[in-house]
Amino acid sequence: MNQEVILRVQDLETEFSTDDGIVQVLHGVSFDVKKGRTLGLVGESGSGKSVTAMSIMGLLPQPYGRVTRGKVLYREKDLLQLSAKEMYAMRGDRISMIFQDPMTALNPVYTIGKQLNEVLELHRPELNKKQRSLYSLEMLKKVRIPMAEKRLDEYPHHLSGGMRQRVMIAMALACKPDILICDEPTTALDVTIQAEILRLMKALQEETGMAMIFITHDLGVVAEICDDVAVMYGGKVLETADVFELFDYPQHPYTKRLLGLMPDLDRPGKQMIPFEPIDPTLFPEFRK
Ligand SMILES: Nc1ncnc2c1ncn2[C@@H]1O[C@H](COP(=O)(O)OP(=O)(O)OP(=O)(O)O)[C@@H](O)[C@H]1O
Ligand SMILES: [Mg+2]
Repeated sequence: MNQEVILRVQDLETEFSTDDGIVQVLHGVSFDVKKGRTLGLVGESGSGKSVTAMSIMGLLPQPYGRVTRGKVLYREKDLLQLSAKEMYAMRGDRISMIFQDPMTALNPVYTIGKQLNEVLELHRPELNKKQRSLYSLEMLKKVRIPMAEKRLDEYPHHLSGGMRQRVMIAMALACKPDILICDEPTTALDVTIQAEILRLMKALQEETGMAMIFITHDLGVVAEICDDVAVMYGGKVLETADVFELFDYPQHPYTKRLLGLMPDLDRPGKQMIPFEPIDPTLFPEFRK
């Protein structure tokens, strides 16, 4: 098994300026992402999963959000030290992200073909126009979009939620990233389509060897797709472990409690971490 670390997040602290002053959201987040493996980032709403992803990608809302401490090492290079221009080139090229709602990332006024073409124009300058169209088609077929030729001329609103999510995956994968960050990409989809998309992503990962960070509330999804897991709470990572180890021998009281809330991880279906924060006074041993 290849255990080479491709992304090392170290002691990340992120804060926002708000009307009520400065709010620190991440309090020293650290984890490693290994080549060809999937790290699940789990935790209840507000625990800082999306802010962690945005901090890594250099996509914190400006000028309110900033990383005040820590490193994001990608192949020994600290992404936090890159200029805006260098980071822009890195995004999409080496590190891609898929968001929860594909409509926020797809442009409603352009056809699918034009949007794929744009991504390729930016990140695969060696391709000419004809090669770009062929490659776009190939990508849509790869994510198993039926009638791919026809889809190139359609607009996002013509497609179902599951199809849009596949287009997003096609766009994210078009540049063959080393790392793909997925922020709840299947939460809005029904269980069957979700399972299909997860299988597809796993297959594409096996083919390309990319690493993934998979943010989710669904421990059923974690069991299905992740190799490693980092459990977040209150802007910190409480515990990281191999997925089997985490499910069988959770160490942290909070993780034990989360797992205790799940009906049966061997059964298919959504196994959601509650969106409401768990009251930490319910497990006093938590504060250690
Ligand atoms: N632009 C912002 N300004 C101020 N605070 C913010 C901003 N964005 C996020 N936060 C705060 O950061 C904390 C973490 O938010 P984040 O979106 O990372 O949570 P999450 O774990 O992704 O939750 P969910 O599971 O609901 O997506 C929350 O308390 C949130 O209110
Ligand atoms: Mg989020």
